[in-house]
Order: sequence, then C-alpha cells, then structure tokens
Amino acid sequence: MKLALLGPEERRYSELRLLKEAKKVFETVTYFPISKLVLEFDEKEVKILYRGKNILEYDALLPRIPKSYMKFGYLLLCFAREQKIPIPISPESVLYTHNKFLTLIALAQANVPIPKTYLSLKRATLEKILENIKYPVVLKLLYGCAGKGVMFADSKQSAISIMDMLEAFKQPVFVEEFIKNPGEDIRAFVIGEELVACMKRKAKKGERRANIAAGGVGEKYEAGDEERDLALRAAKALGMKVAAVDILPGKKKYVIEVNVYPGLKGIENATGINVARKIVEKVYELATSV
Ligand SMILES: Nc1ncnc2c1ncn2[C@@H]1O[C@H](COP(=O)(O)OP(=O)(O)O)[C@@H](O)[C@H]1O
Ligand SMILES: [Mg+2]
Repeated sequence: MKLALLGPEERRYSELRLLKEAKKVFETVTYFPISKLVLEFDEKEVKILYRGKNILEYDALLPRIPKSYMKFGYLLLCFAREQKIPIPISPESVLYTHNKFLTLIALAQANVPIPKTYLSLKRATLEKILENIKYPVVLKLLYGCAGKGVMFADSKQSAISIMDMLEAFKQPVFVEEFIKNPGEDIRAFVIGEELVACMKRKAKKGERRANIAAGGVGEKYEAGDEERDLALRAAKALGMKVAAVDILPGKKKYVIEVNVYPGLKGIENATGINVARKIVEKVYELATSV
C-alpha cells in the first residue's frame, strides 16, 4: 500500500508526526509539497507530479491543505476523487472550512447549532442590527485562524470602528453573537464515526480567545454525549472523516468552527493520544476497503 501525504513545503510537527506514523502502517509513503506540484493533463490523462512521481498512482491520499493553497488544493483533490483515490475529506470541505461563513452555512443546513451570524459587505447595512444586538459581539475575518482575525466589540461604537477598518481593507463584515463562556472552548477531534480525542482549551488571563496560539492552555477533556454528537454531525456535514471541531461549551453548546488543517501538537500533548496514528490507520482502512 502506497500513501501520498500532501502538505506545505515546510514540514512542521503535524506533518512530521503523520509521516512517522504513516511509515509504520503503509509500505511506501511519499510527501508531496503542494507548492512544488505540477498538474499535467490533456483530454485523455491527468497526472499530479512531483519529482517524477504521480500522486494519482497512489493507493490513498492524506491531504494537509493550509488556507494559502485552498483553491489549488481543492482542484488536486477533485482530480484524485475522479480517479477514485481514497481521501479522508471531500474536496469541498477544503473550501468550506477555510471560510468561516461557508462552514456555518453547512453546519446550519445540517441543523448543528451555531451562533447567530450576520454577513454584509458594507458596515452601513448593519447599522440597525448593531442597535439591537447584545454586546459584546464577535467580529471575524472570514479566513482567520489560530485566533488571529477574531475580534470582540463591547459597544456599538467599537463594533463600528472595527467594521470601518474591515471595509477599508475590503473585507466582508462578519458579525457573530457572543456566546457566554468561561474563556474556554472544546476541541474535538473526529476520525471516521468516532470522537478520538478531546481537549478543553482555557484562554489565558485577560484573553477571550481560547486558542493555544493565543496563549490558551489545553487539557484532556471527557466529552459528554451532546458534545460528541455535535462533533460527529459537524464533521459529517462537511464531508470529513478527519476533522477538528471547535465547540463553545455552556448550557447550550454551539459549533463555531471545523478545521481541515488542524495542528496535532496541542491535542496529542494534552491528551497523550496518538492522533497521528489514528488518522493514518483510518486512511489505511479507506484504502483497503475499496
Ligand atoms: N461567537 C463566539 N462567542 C464567544 N467566543 C468566541 C466566539 N467565536 C469565537 N470565540 C472565541 O475565539 C476563539 C477563536 O475563534 P474561532 O472561530 O475558532 O477562530 P480561529 O479560526 O481563529 O480559531 C474561540 O476558540 C473562542 O474562544
Ligand atoms: Mg478555532
């Protein structure tokens, strides 16, 4: 069995962990850096090449596609899907999960609870809504990650000044209801039909974002039935057999994000679970069941 691991040119913790574990499960593992690939195609044949090796001749494809490569990555996965190569995520999930608004739409369509959300191109069109909304509100860049691009406004006045800045940078204005929480969120790692690892992230003092990159600390967490159900439904809604789902805890729970390119370090360290191995085993199972 041959595995093609697709990812950024620079291999960091997560890519290295996947490579290491994949070599224990597959006979051959090749790392394909997305930025060095050539798509060669005519009306008869398609190849996705790197140093003479064609991804489309592998038994399975495990993609790690960062936001900067999402469109090219999507195309690559479409070609691989056409060739019926097993992939643990749908090509569409790359486009959807790298865009917070599309993610929320897919979740809402699957009846997964999400915060009330507004999207508009101009601040002025949201002016009325800002009068009646409860503060604080959350403003987000559609393509942010690691907590960067998530902003909180405690009043209409500060919401407006953030929106003006977004408009000046030609960014859509994306406003979310603030879900009251004790500065914590739940990161649920789904593989197949299972919640394989779960951590609670606590924001550092004086910070509302629980991301580890924003100073948050992760600790192992036993998910309840409701959180498990939400995580599995969220992953399914986006067509993903490998997904990291962010849930805001509280009396009512909300899914705020699904990650297609999650880091493995935080979750492996917090839980002691070999998540990389479980991902690779799932891909092996997909490859051997075609
Ligand atoms: N609607 C919300 N209400 C309260 N806190 C939020 C909300 N949305 C995000 N947060 C906080 O901000 C963090 C980052 O938000 P998220 O949407 O997951 O963006 P990122 O892609 O940057 O991780 C969350 O983990 C959570 O702590
Ligand atoms: Mg997040």
